[in-house]
Amino acid sequence: MEEGQWRAARGLVREAGRVVALTGAGISAESGVPTFRDAGGLWRSYRPEELATPEALARDPRTVLEWYEWRRSMLADCRPNAGHRALARFFLKCGESGLVTQNVDGLHTRAALEEAGAGAADAALPIELHGAVGRDRCDGCGARSPAEPLGDDLPRCGGCGGLRRPDVVLFGEPLDAAVLDRARVLAERADLCLVVGTSAVVYPAAALPLATLQAGGHIVEVNPQRTALTDAAAAALRGEAGTVLPALLD
Ligand code: APR
Repeated sequence: MEEGQWRAARGLVREAGRVVALTGAGISAESGVPTFRDAGGLWRSYRPEELATPEALARDPRTVLEWYEWRRSMLADCRPNAGHRALARFFLKCGESGLVTQNVDGLHTRAALEEAGAGAADAALPIELHGAVGRDRCDGCGARSPAEPLGDDLPRCGGCGGLRRPDVVLFGEPLDAAVLDRARVLAERADLCLVVGTSAVVYPAAALPLATLQAGGHIVEVNPQRTALTDAAAAALRGEAGTVLPALLD
């Protein structure tokens, strides 16, 4: 069974004209970034309703901002792993960006810059559906700025005085419509959607591989576990992204 999955996956990658990849927290697990719903995942220890919703931010901004500062501090020592780097090399070689991520850890961007070296990294820069925890966004005017350490006072926007919060999509918040449209166009045009390290339970991200399928393309899944998309996949490679992606894409 496993060899057949690999043969099918390799064939689909080889024959694909356009590839889109949708990644989730699993691709960063080997970099030391906790996932959400796995054993040891963040939502096993914390309640999203208390830390990752607009209501929580309005009710108790300091707790929410401290939690995101803790997540930022955890990322400070994390580096892209072999899975991030293999995807970056693949899209740099393709010359056509096709990387869509749910992750806010910035590791795909770092992998693209590292793999591109002095060259242009654009083709391997991700569409960040859920934003990036390394940036702040003003809740008032939307102005973005690099994240700063949390002081005694709540961070305020220099322009309008609104609350500066992490530039991430909280549960119940809409995704940036232009960002989602770019991702949807990539998915609908792709011959192949590589779904890596996501439980595929959060929408609208999880609908992207189905858009590829509905447009006549195929799905290849890279995940140690079955997911909500496994049955729709033409091939499911049961393994860790850092091992599977270099073997599949290099
Ligand atoms: N390689 C590949 N996949 C892995 C690895 C690994 N080394 N380790 C774990 N996984 C898989 C797990 O089997 C699981 O299917 O990664 C998936 C992680 O799923 P979740 O924790 O649900 O993360 P994700 O799918 O990214 O969550 C989606 O939910 O909490 C929100 O906004 C948050 O972007 C996040 C969204």
